[in-house]
Amino acid sequence: MKQQDLAFYGEFAPKLEEIQALLMNEIQSMLDSISTDSETAVAEHIKCRIKDADSLREKLRRNHLPETARSGLMNLSDIVGARVITHFVGDIYTVVELIKRNPRWRVEQIKDYIAAMKPNGYRSLHMLLAVPFGVGGIDEINIEIQLRTIAMDCWASLEHQLKYKKDIKNTSLIVEELKRCADEMASTDLSMQTIRDLINRR
Ligand code: GTP
Ligand code: MG
Repeated sequence: MKQQDLAFYGEFAPKLEEIQALLMNEIQSMLDSISTDSETAVAEHIKCRIKDADSLREKLRRNHLPETARSGLMNLSDIVGARVITHFVGDIYTVVELIKRNPRWRVEQIKDYIAAMKPNGYRSLHMLLAVPFGVGGIDEINIEIQLRTIAMDCWASLEHQLKYKKDIKNTSLIVEELKRCADEMASTDLSMQTIRDLINRR
């Protein structure tokens, strides 16, 4: 954690780093249980992060909540988050099943924006998990794992950059074009999945 984030999280910082490490290790071992061979790996990459103080404050402000670490830990579910980027759509559901069965946490909620994409074309599957915390009278916190394919990640990353960089007016043309790109990428994802199923059927 950066100095300013350590200062913001204070007494909670060590536990947050512990949870981040646990999350990374657990995800890695679950993936290794499927395959340790890079040729057949389900995940292209994984990453974990602790929300930095600036974006946490901003999110709390947006939600009209006190701008403190405690308030964030008690009210938000993505202070600690992980992303699992898979090659194929089907791999996402394989990993979801492993996450569900892991006794280190309790699954609180699954938001399947693949089965039901957001109106702007955003696709991903989000899992909210409750993990033991036990610092400063907070028994447990929620953490978030986002699962998406390389194509979904590509779109989300570009869309995020476009929205974030400039205060562009979301003209209907831009919204429509972004949605069209998301749909084309989803269509390619399905074709790639079909090709893989054909190859694996032998
Ligand atoms: P926030 O959007 O984080 O305030 O929480 P929420 O309760 O609306 O949860 P949701 O599951 O909708 O989104 C959580 C996270 O998913 C976001 O912080 C982003 O990382 C990602 N996300 C959701 N929607 C979009 C989107 O339209 N575009 C991109 N690029 N990312 C998104
Ligand atoms: Mg949202």
